[in-house]
Amino acid sequence: MQIIDGKATASAIKQEIAAEVEARVAAGKKRPHLAAVLVGHDGGSETYVAHKVKACEECGFTSTLIRREADVTQAELLEIVAGLNADPDVDGYIVQLPLPAHIDEQAIIQAVDPDKDVDGFHPVNVGRMSLGLPCFLSATPAGIIELLRRYEIETHGKHCVVIGRSNIVGKPVASLMMQKAQPGNATVTVCHSATPDIADIVRRADIIIAAIGHPGFVTADMVKPGAVVIDVGTTRVPDASKKSGFRLCGDVDFENVAPLCSAITPVPGGVGPMTICSLMINTLQAAKNKD
Ligand code: GUN
Repeated sequence: MQIIDGKATASAIKQEIAAEVEARVAAGKKRPHLAAVLVGHDGGSETYVAHKVKACEECGFTSTLIRREADVTQAELLEIVAGLNADPDVDGYIVQLPLPAHIDEQAIIQAVDPDKDVDGFHPVNVGRMSLGLPCFLSATPAGIIELLRRYEIETHGKHCVVIGRSNIVGKPVASLMMQKAQPGNATVTVCHSATPDIADIVRRADIIIAAIGHPGFVTADMVKPGAVVIDVGTTRVPDASKKSGFRLCGDVDFENVAPLCSAITPVPGGVGPMTICSLMINTLQAAKNKD
């Protein structure tokens, strides 16, 4: 059984990006600039955005963090988005999700210039992805594909079962796994909350991608011996023994599933670090697109 080390892979990719950035700067080009908009004080969002800012430093990027309180109006947010679209120094930006309930998330996503949409959430980028055209791939699916590529995991002709149908992970990763590409060329089944007998379907998978946000959902009896398991879950579970007061829990019962697998991503240290890396790859690409 092989542990797929997302932390080490992400670290190697960030070094590759940093070297490319320094070469660009030496050639007289400006540093890539990523901006992030953070609304409110959700603990998960605060952590993600802090990691994104730190990753920018590691990659030699410039970063800007724009913060607003949770009572920000949709009009104010749209004004910020318009400002970022118009700012020639900003190569790419993200609006951290989730947004407060009074804001129409799709209205914000669709106001982002697709050329600066390094999250890959705009319908133009989602559409281009599903057609297999050049685009900004959304960060978590792109990170999963990159892990499969770097660990040379065979996907061609395999049965991949995706658990979860979110716009951010389930739908796009299913689309990428079925694409005529390497990694890709898999036969994909998507399971979700309305799927009967999920366990029976998951048991037939060569590759399981679990993205439902339900800690320990995938148990050993659901896993075919030799399967590859990608765990996208990052649920915060209260844990008094931790300084933070919580621990991150994946969607897979790692302890009992890992011995059965040919390869598995841990939580933390699997898909999570790769997600931020994908954002850095997209931001560098956004800067290069302007060359
Ligand atoms: N919330 C959870 N994941 C993401 C992400 O990849 N991008 C943004 N903008 N918000 C998120």
